[in-house]
Amino acid sequence: MIQNTKVIDLPCWQDATGSLVAIEANGTIPFDVNRVYYIFSANDESHRGFHSHRNLEQLLICIHGSVDILISDGFSSETVTLNKPEKGLIIGPMVWREMMNFADDAVLLVLASRHYETEDYMRDFDEFVIEARKYFGETNRSR
Ligand code: TYD
Repeated sequence: MIQNTKVIDLPCWQDATGSLVAIEANGTIPFDVNRVYYIFSANDESHRGFHSHRNLEQLLICIHGSVDILISDGFSSETVTLNKPEKGLIIGPMVWREMMNFADDAVLLVLASRHYETEDYMRDFDEFVIEARKYFGETNRSR
């Protein structure tokens, strides 16, 4: 798995009346939630993200439909498909992310540890790779 990322099974209570997922800050996820946003009305031509954060931690859940999330730690990259409401992707600091292949009905919910801070964004991939390799340590170069 890419460094500072984790796919988690969210606790889901199911019975004949339906399903319920509950997420507790500093329990299910390792951070306080200070912001929530969601992306919808995207489609298979939508390609979003193209950035990393210096400090932000996030949990991404596709609560309806599906979407592919490309993640990179500056050494390698991987694509995680989020396609069910009980599957979450935690993304910590210094991870590049791109969102693509949105189903027309996709709703991507994001729980974030910090308020919206433009200065926390890194939007240049080449600069990101340099910074991420310093952050995660040059010893990982061979991965
Ligand atoms: P943007 O960062 O381009 O979204 P994505 O990473 O999915 O491509 O954000 C789109 C717009 O929404 C941009 O004008 C900034 C604004 N925005 C906020 O005001 N608050 C937020 O928490 C987020 C994530 C975005």
